[in-house]
Amino acid sequence: MILVTGGAGYIGSHTCVALLQAGYEVLVLDNFCNSKAESLHRVASITGKAVPLVQGDVRDRDLLREVFGTHAIDGVIHFAGLKAVGESVEKPLTYYDTNVSGSVVLTEVMAEFGIQMLVFSSSATVYGDPVNLPIREDFPVGATNPYGRSKLMVEQIYTDVANSDKAWRIALLRYFNPVGAHVSGAMGEDPNGIPSNLMPYISQVAVGRREQLTVFGNDYPTVDGTGVRDYIHVMDLAEGHVRALAWLKNQTGAHVFNLGTGRGYSVLEMVRAFELVSGRPVPYLISPRRAGDVAEVYADSSKAERELDWKATRDIEVMCRDTWNWQKQNPQGYPD
Ligand code: NAD
Ligand code: WQD
Repeated sequence: MILVTGGAGYIGSHTCVALLQAGYEVLVLDNFCNSKAESLHRVASITGKAVPLVQGDVRDRDLLREVFGTHAIDGVIHFAGLKAVGESVEKPLTYYDTNVSGSVVLTEVMAEFGIQMLVFSSSATVYGDPVNLPIREDFPVGATNPYGRSKLMVEQIYTDVANSDKAWRIALLRYFNPVGAHVSGAMGEDPNGIPSNLMPYISQVAVGRREQLTVFGNDYPTVDGTGVRDYIHVMDLAEGHVRALAWLKNQTGAHVFNLGTGRGYSVLEMVRAFELVSGRPVPYLISPRRAGDVAEVYADSSKAERELDWKATRDIEVMCRDTWNWQKQNPQGYPD
């Protein structure tokens, strides 16, 4: 059985589908601070399998002891955390507590119970402004905000932990820009309030929930002046976790992997692709650059391809189609 912390969230819920379909049993731990139980009902209806849930906080040591003491857990995928860059600047301690302390408590309890296989959600944000493109795992790291630093700290902690005891097997997965939804349209990204990420913003404009997109800068040295990112379909990402788990069985140590497609798209290319797939206009307004943004980011994911036998297969059209399918069917996101 795999314990999935933050399993009700966007990436976690899609990964539960991929795990269940690959024959794993899952147990979700989530405090629903940024998700709803409905996402797990959708996982169950897609897979036809129940999704056992423990509602609680990953920092709650007593609860974790109870979870590990009463379930036959073989490994953990650790998604639970806070992820809003802007909020992390305003509430750094909240971010370090949840993301760093949460990871430490989880790992301590895992060690107590002799469970030493772990997949951790890291982020391409750890590369800051990349020195070159495409970005390889051995490039220098250096985050530019508390959120990014919390991810970097956890990567470093896990590397030290793996060095201290060869029984640990840890995959540190650096996601690029996850987008898209399950092909059924029953599951997708359901941000609270005004989306800060591009894709949910575009889809909420297309469905009529918001008037227009603000494009943050068109004076970058890119194809059309707007920021370029490596968007990756959330189901490709989910399958990457399944591959990483299988691979870890025969490994020891901590290993970093980029999970991206290797291709970048600009903001305006994303807008056009979405308009084409949805048949809806996405009006936009150009505004100044957003603080902390970089011009261009895309991955070299050849290490994951080589070692994990994993490669993203869903292209930009599929990413837009599945997002639109979810948005159309669930214009207000998941019900309470
Ligand atoms: P999400 O907010 O949808 O999911 C996170 C889940 O963790 C939520 O269900 C939330 O309720 C839960 N959670 C948060 N704090 C918790 C706590 N203290 N105890 C228990 N549960 C808690 O976010 P997501 O997009 O699915 O991201 C999952 C992970 O991937 C996060 O660690 C995030 O930092 C990382 N990541 C996300 C992106 C992205 O763009 N979405 C990119 C790179 C890395
Ligand atoms: C993408 C592009 C924006 C919104 C963030 C985090 C990163 C990771 C993924 C967790 C950029 C532009 C956006 C809008 C816009 N998360 N944009 N108008 O900034 O690459 O990465 O999410 O780990 O850590 O920093 O993603 O979706 O916010 O932006 O023009 O309303 O879209 O400037 O070029 P980003 P994003």
